[in-house]
Amino acid sequence: MRKVIIALDGHSSCGKSTTAKRVAAKLGYAFIDTGAMYRAVSLYFHENHVTSTNPKEVEKALNEIHISFQFNEQRGASDVYLNGLNVESEIRKMYVSEMVSEVSAITAVRKAMVAQQQQMAKHGGVIMDGRDIGTKVFPDAEVKIFMTADPVIRAERRQKELLDKGELVDLDEIIENLKKRDIIDSTREEGPLVQAEDAVLMDTSFMTLEEQVNFVIELHQNVLERL
Ligand code: DC
Repeated sequence: MRKVIIALDGHSSCGKSTTAKRVAAKLGYAFIDTGAMYRAVSLYFHENHVTSTNPKEVEKALNEIHISFQFNEQRGASDVYLNGLNVESEIRKMYVSEMVSEVSAITAVRKAMVAQQQQMAKHGGVIMDGRDIGTKVFPDAEVKIFMTADPVIRAERRQKELLDKGELVDLDEIIENLKKRDIIDSTREEGPLVQAEDAVLMDTSFMTLEEQVNFVIELHQNVLERL
């Protein structure tokens, strides 16, 4: 079977990672969660008191940041490592979510991450989830999907995710965070969140996980048949 690139972009918390993880397992593809990379950079900025408005500090930090992924058998997906340390659980916390949109809007940060993402998926056989994969990272990706969902449903899903990890956060606080992130992500200059012209829209508000996975698998199959 020919291996291609699946670009899965869209709003926060509409099921991109969960869907991508399942699709990757079914197709034997690698799954790369690019949001985790921006979250790891944010965590580094937080821990090292990097002033994100100071280009010199940002440049220095980027030279010191090494991000990698390692498959975790238990989770059935890759964990993200920041300078050799597993930060998969830390980067999902609310304080990281609060700062990640600002950090990921910095041009130097995006350039460094995009270059690494292009390197990681250059041989295909990858499903990559993010905001700018189909527009900027892999504009020639064979399969492009843009995912969205009702903001309240997205917030409820995020609340459950956080609760499963032991963090209880008020629903209104999550809705605010998602709205704020949507605005920053969609209006930034570099690599904004926008549906690629040739991406297929998938609204997951009332879709089960199985339906989402089948949607992507079928689209991938149709594309392969036409190649
Ligand atoms: O997918 P996520 O919610 O974990 O992503 C966290 C943040 O990272 C999100 O608010 C925007 C940013 N991001 C980005 O700017 N570009 C990407 N390709 C992926 C994520």
